[in-house]
Parts: sequence; structure tokens; C-alpha cells
Amino acid sequence: MKALILSGGKGTRLRPLTYTGAKQLVPVANKPILWYGIEGIVAAGVTDIGIIISPETGEEVKTKTGNGELFGAKITYILQEQPAGLAHAVKVAQPFLGDSPFIMYLGDNLIQSDLNLFLERFKSQQTDALILLRQVSNPSAFGVAEVDGNGRVLHLVEKPKVPPSNLALVGIYFFAKTIHDAIASIQPSARGELEITDAIQCLIDRQKKVEACQLEGWWLDTGKKDDLLEANRIILDTTCLTKSIEGEVDTQSQVIGRVQIGQGTKLVNCTVRGPAIIGRDCYLEDCFIGPYSSIGNNVTLIDVEVDHSVILQSAKVVGIHQRIVDSVIGQRAQLTVTPQRPKALRFMIGDDSQIELT
Ligand code: DAU
Repeated sequence: MKALILSGGKGTRLRPLTYTGAKQLVPVANKPILWYGIEGIVAAGVTDIGIIISPETGEEVKTKTGNGELFGAKITYILQEQPAGLAHAVKVAQPFLGDSPFIMYLGDNLIQSDLNLFLERFKSQQTDALILLRQVSNPSAFGVAEVDGNGRVLHLVEKPKVPPSNLALVGIYFFAKTIHDAIASIQPSARGELEITDAIQCLIDRQKKVEACQLEGWWLDTGKKDDLLEANRIILDTTCLTKSIEGEVDTQSQVIGRVQIGQGTKLVNCTVRGPAIIGRDCYLEDCFIGPYSSIGNNVTLIDVEVDHSVILQSAKVVGIHQRIVDSVIGQRAQLTVTPQRPKALRFMIGDDSQIELT
């Protein structure tokens, strides 16, 4: 059994964060989204992992993630020159996959469940494909499945305008080698991509065995800002379970509840209310950090209140007297107000940034 994680693509929906980095490396609770997928796959006993990368962000993914040692796995990087579709990525990975059955995992998806359950079912039933489905309120944003009364998959369609059901395809699939023949016989869709949904439909049309499991527990596709904040909230809730302070907290500061503070970080006259995580080498003075906040490494925060937000590494925020809520602040971004009552606002805001004064 092998695994193929898709970490290429363009990440247009998370711009501007993804102008400078891979969307799969955007952190959730200070850990890249991609790493949760790798850990889940390794926990299911699969350690031979291929990762699809793009020319634009591949080097960053490789440098951060390494050869797999960090996870007890062997990672092979596979370059996909163009984001020509999920099935195209499998095609490019065929030399790595060979005839092996494999888990295909979209690098921006997070699920709560263990992969083990599905993997066991896939192996024992000897299916050509096992897909995971989940009811959603906006099926048009996903691949959608039509299923009969016995749970048999009848039909799959990618991002339909008129969805045949509210069952979305989760970005985790289990395939036997027969998927390669199916991919070889499909054509690019109207949006110009080789769709994995069409390849699975091809298996169904050829009377191959395609099974579906309904996913229990949460599933997050971290493609957009609100999804990312929701992922951060859920992961902090489920993984930040204890108080752990490695940095320095002065006597004026209060750290309440489940809070993790990294080495080299200094808090002066701050209140932190968990669940929250603050990375390494940060400096925080006169701040309130509220629940569901993740502060990356090397961040400076002075005289600010932050709640339910993600601040990426090396950002600096000073003197914002309104509470910063539901926000994502990118790497090295600077947001500073120096006088008590500013008379003017001076901006240098990147393309596709969003600022709301509410
Ligand atoms: O998240 C679940 C959905 O994922 C499914 O319901 C859809 O059926 C499936 O097509 C997919 O839709 P998305 O629009 O979310 O796919 P996206 O373009 O965001 O790509 C998913 C991941 O695969 C992402 O980590 C980028 C990577 N990718 C994407 C393409 C198109 C590649 O590595 N290569 C590619 O060519």
C-alpha cells in the first residue's frame, strides 16, 4: 500500500497568503495543514508516500517537510508541471505508484476520523475504489455523488450547478491499480482538468467495484479563510489539551486554561485565555490573546487584543485598540498604530488582501 498526497495546484482561494507560499503549508494550530495528512497516513500504517508538488511552491514544501524522517515515513516528491487536475496528478505519479493500491489524499483536507477503518474496509472488500462522502449544505462547491438505497454509488459529478444530492466527495480516496486505465480513458473537463471524479465514474460505467463510506466526525477543506479559521478552532479544541509554558511569562501576566507557549517567547503584562497556541521566539506586551488564537513563531504583538484568529510567523501588530477577531494575518505582515488617536491610516496592502473595519 502506498499513499499519494496532492500538494500542487494554485491555491487561488487563499490569496494573498498563497502568493508567497503553498496553501498546504498554511498552519493550523501552528502546524502545516499538509502534515496532519502525512501523520494520518502514517498512523494507518502506510509509510511509502509520494507528494505531488508544483514548480511554484514545490521547493518550499520539500524544504519544510523533508524526506519523511520527521514522520517515520519515506517521502518521494513528484513534480506536476501544470495543475491539470487531480487525475492528471495520479497520471504523473504512475511511475511511483506502479501497480500498488494507494490512498489518495488532497493536501488541503483535514478529517477527524482514523484512516484505518476505511483502509481495512478497502482491503477486505477488494474494491477498485473506495470514496468517502459527507453531507454538506453547499454541494455545488464539491464533487457530488448520487447513491442508491443500499449505499451503492450510481453517479458522480464534479461541482454541478444542480447537484443530484447533498453528498460531497471528501478529498480522500482509496484506489486499486485499475484507476490508471480509467484515467487513461477520460478527457479533460469543461474547466480543462482531468477530473478524478470522471475517472471514478468511468470505473462505475465499467461495472467495477466502487464503494462509498459516509464520513462521521468533522471534515475540513481548508481552501478559504473561514474554513481555515474553523480548522484552527477545531484542531485547537482537540489537540491543545494541556497547559505548557516553555517561554517566559512575567508576574503581571495571566495564562488561563489550555495554552501552549513556545521556547524563547516572552510575555509582559498579558492575558492569554486558551485554547490558544503561541510559537517560539515571540514578544507580547500588554496584550489579550483570546480563545482559538494561533500565533506563529517570531511574532511581535504590543498593545493589542486578538481573538479567534491566526497570525503567521514574523508578523508584527502594534497598538490596535479594537479587538482583532476572525482574522488571518500573513507572514511578516505589519500592522501598527503609533499615536493614541491616529489622524490618518497609511496602507501598503498586497493584492487580494481584505480589510474590514466593522
Ligand atoms: O475537498 C474535496 C474536493 O476536492 C472534492 O469534493 C472534489 O471532487 C475535488 O475535485 C476537489 O475539489 P477542489 O476544488 O477542492 O480541488 P483543488 O483544486 O482545491 O485541489 C485539491 C488539492 O489537490 C489541493 O491540495 C491542490 C492539489 N492539486 C490540485 C490540482 C487541480 C494538485 O496537486 N494538482 C492539481 O492539478
